[in-house]
This record gives sequence, C-alpha cells and structure tokens, in this order.
Amino acid sequence: MAQQSELFKKLVAHCKEYGFIYQSSEIYDGLSAVYDYGPNGVLLKNNLKEYWWKAMVQMHENIVGLDAAIFMHPKTWVASGHVDAFNDPLIDNKDSKRRYRADQLIEGYMEKIEGKIDKEVEKARKRFGDSFNEALFRETNDRVVKYKEEHENVRLRFADLMTRQDLVGMKDMIDELEIADPETGSRNWTEVRQFNLMFSTQLGNIAGEEGKLYLRPETAQGIFVNFLNVQKTTRQKLPFGIAQIGKAFRNEIVARQFIFRMREFEQMEMQFFVRPGTEMEWYNHWKETRMKWHLALGTPPEKLRFHDHDNLAHYANAAVDIEFEFPFGFKELEGIHSRTDFDLSSHQQLSGKKLQYFDPELNENYVPYVVETSIGADRMFLSLLSNALIEETVPGSDEDGNTRDVLKLPPALAPIKCAVLPLKRNEDALVEKARGIFDELKFSFTCHYDDTGSIGKLYRRQDAIGTPFCITVDFETLENDTVTIRERDSMTQQRVPIAQVEKMVSEKVDMRHLLK
Ligand code: GAP
Repeated sequence: MAQQSELFKKLVAHCKEYGFIYQSSEIYDGLSAVYDYGPNGVLLKNNLKEYWWKAMVQMHENIVGLDAAIFMHPKTWVASGHVDAFNDPLIDNKDSKRRYRADQLIEGYMEKIEGKIDKEVEKARKRFGDSFNEALFRETNDRVVKYKEEHENVRLRFADLMTRQDLVGMKDMIDELEIADPETGSRNWTEVRQFNLMFSTQLGNIAGEEGKLYLRPETAQGIFVNFLNVQKTTRQKLPFGIAQIGKAFRNEIVARQFIFRMREFEQMEMQFFVRPGTEMEWYNHWKETRMKWHLALGTPPEKLRFHDHDNLAHYANAAVDIEFEFPFGFKELEGIHSRTDFDLSSHQQLSGKKLQYFDPELNENYVPYVVETSIGADRMFLSLLSNALIEETVPGSDEDGNTRDVLKLPPALAPIKCAVLPLKRNEDALVEKARGIFDELKFSFTCHYDDTGSIGKLYRRQDAIGTPFCITVDFETLENDTVTIRERDSMTQQRVPIAQVEKMVSEKVDMRHLLK
C-alpha cells in the first residue's frame, strides 16, 4: 500500500509538471475537488472522449448523439427522485470537526478486514513457498475463515441499512464496530444526517424556491426528457440508444483522491431503450461490450473486474460496476444500470406528457425500459494514466540518463502523436529542415517541434507525455532526405524517407486499432 501511495503521489506530481492537470484557482490556494486540464490534459481527454463517442455512436447504427443543456426545468429533479433521494449519509467528528461519509467509514472498516486476510495469505505464502495452495488456505485457515465471516456479516448488515436508508442503524453500527476518525482516532461522533448532493443556483431575478435551478448531477436526465424528440426525428425503432458527453456537478461531502471524486466532472452516458422484459438480455450485452471497450485499451484484465451492487439506487432493478485497480485499490470506474421504466414513467406522470413508444411488431404503446452505461471521463483519464505511467531503466542506452518516466498510452489517445527534433539546435540547416517537416506533419496530427535541449533530454520530455514517435533530423537528412523515427516503448530507431513519415505515423495512431 505504501508503494501504491508513492505511485499515486508521483502520478499527481507528473500531471502538474507535464501540463495534464492543475488544481483549479491554484493562485488562491485552490478550490477543493475542482481541477483544470492543461495543454496535454485537454488533448488526452478529448481523444478519450472521441474513442468513447466513436465506439458508442459511430459504430452503432442504432445509437445517436445528444448535447442537452446543463440547466433543466427544476421539476426534472423532482421526477428523477434526486430532490428526495440523491443524498449521502454525513457524519461529523465532534473532536476533530472533520466531516465524513458514514457509508465510507463502514466500507473502510471492511477494507481493513480484507487487508488482514491478505496479510495472513502473504505470511502463509512465504512460509509454504512453492507448495502453497492459496485457494485451499483461504477456505480452511481458522483466522481467515473468522475474518471472512466477520466481513460477510458487516457487508449484509450494511447493505440492508443502505437499502432502507436507516441513518440511526448506521450510527449504531459505527459505534458498535468502534470505528474511529481515520485522521485522529477519535470516536466522538454526531448523529448521521442526510446531505443532498445537488448544487443549486437562482434563475434570473426570480427569488426563492420558484427560481431555484439545479446544476445537473447526471447527464442522463437530459436524455430522458428528450426521448420522444430524438425517437421521432431519427425514426429509430426499439432497441435504440442516445449517447451524451457532458458536465455533471455533485457537492461531494468528502472529495479526495485527486480527479477520482470531483465536484465538477464530466460523464459519458448512454441510455439504451428496450422492450420491457428484454432488459436483462441487454444489461448483459452492455456489460460485456463495455468491458471489451476497456480491454481494447490494453488494460491488463486482472486490473478490471465486475462488482454487483449490494444496494440498488432508487431507479434500478440491477446494477454492476466495472471496477479498476487504481493506486488506492479497486474502485468504481463505470456503472451499468438496468433503470426499468422509472425515469420515463416519472417524467410522464409529472409533466402530463406521454413518453411512450408505439411498437409496430406488438401493435401497442408502452413506456420503454432503459439500460444505461455511465462512465466518468475524468475517472477514466485517471485509470489510463495510472496504467500508463512507468518508471524504467534504460539498459545500455546512449540516451541521456539511465532511467526514464514514460507514459505508455495507446498511440491513438496520446496527446501529441509525433515530435520533430533537430539533432543540434545551433545548426541552421537542421533547424530549417526540421521546421519544414513539422509544418507539413501538423496538417495530419498533433505534432511538436522542439529544439530546446540535447536530443536525449528532448526524447525524455516526449516520453513523459506519451508521444509515440520522435522524428530526428540529422546531417544525413540534409544529404538524402531521410530521418530516424524513434518508437516510444521499444526506443528502437529506424531510418526512413521523409516522404513516408506521414503515412507511417498516421497508420500507427489510427483509432481504428482500438475500435476494431
Ligand atoms: N447516470 C448514472 C450515474 O450518474 P453514478 O454511478 O452516480 O451513476 C456514473 O455515476 C459514473 O460517473 C461513475 O462510475 C464515475 O465514473 C463517474 N462519477 C460519479 N461521481 C463522480 C465524481 N464525484 N467525480 C468524478 N467522477 C464521478
């Protein structure tokens, strides 16, 4: 864990140093849980969103796009249940005056039990060496069995409390388990209260409740209220989907872990409208399809897993998370939810407008069921970077220094696809030639020109931002119009005619590789 938190610190520092992510309003000491994307960050995030959009919209004839406004009629959030039920259980520590989410304190307790089990397993692995049978040990070791039982009891009780939103029960549980303030160790807690996560603002000059507007906490509702508009204008037949990328806002009680949990973030959501009764079939379909999308990025399969929800949101009859192993453990990256007809029916009821579909095959009208896929663009960004950032030694290399930080991003997502570097910056002929190549390549993809250091330093700089190809212009270039192309991961170099560079790089950074 200590190693992992070092990795996380390094990642946060790397993001700032190389222009990926800055704390918002840093000169005023920052605004908590709000971040700005720098020059490389915005390019990477745009590529990531493009990959999602192409995979969901361009590759599916029956999925269309939408860009709904952030502000919606306030009744939207009454119908969706967010005004009443979009709450987190909040608890304060009376001594430290720190504020926590009660559910996260209990989850932290369960993680500690998991940590104890892992410790026992590791001890036994060392003791038994090659003959160690981990599965058998987990099933039979007395201490491990006891911890597992305790974990299961806590999990079941906790799931029940969350489903019933039993705040008193949650406080009792925190007291009984003797859960302490993680920062100070104090057990002097207040009661648990509900805290609504929606930000609100006022419309124009209308004072009071009447002019109260919410900043959307999910993009999905913009899709639901437009369901009939889109269906009619595109003449889509069920099953079909509507996809959207956009900002969402949540007043998170505890916002930690960098861009994992933010107060302003971006979602990539798709609502898939289906005939009632077929929703589980589509739920399973989208589970598999979305997992493939993640694996196509080269994410190691052991870093991804499904996690079924123990307590379902107010709108769902089935829900699963795709979890990723972040540097701070396995956490939710994406949610796939079977939302039934909850949203459309609620909007239909409150607005008095029919939100039904006429099914020509069944010759009847009904409110469709919905299967949703929902992923945070920022969380996905963090998972990409935590996979990609690698510190490695460069054995027997003539490049500067013998270690390097390299971002092994999929080439199609890399912020800069190719850097053009003159071997020597004080040689006018090299600089002029390199500039000429750069001025041509920039029509095809994002490109850097750099002559501000030794070639070794320039390579390191490009490695650190994940540039898959560096084109070096040297004296031979002046003689025969060839350059070297250095590939980021293998660091191998190949001499090629300048005329072939554009085609070679374009082919390698093509998003088709991910989509196929
Ligand atoms: N429409 C369904 C919905 O919003 P959710 O599980 O609350 O479901 C979906 O959120 C995804 O949005 C999450 O899996 C996560 O990737 C992202 N997300 C949610 N809250 C976030 C936050 N505070 N900061 C960053 N990303 C967040």
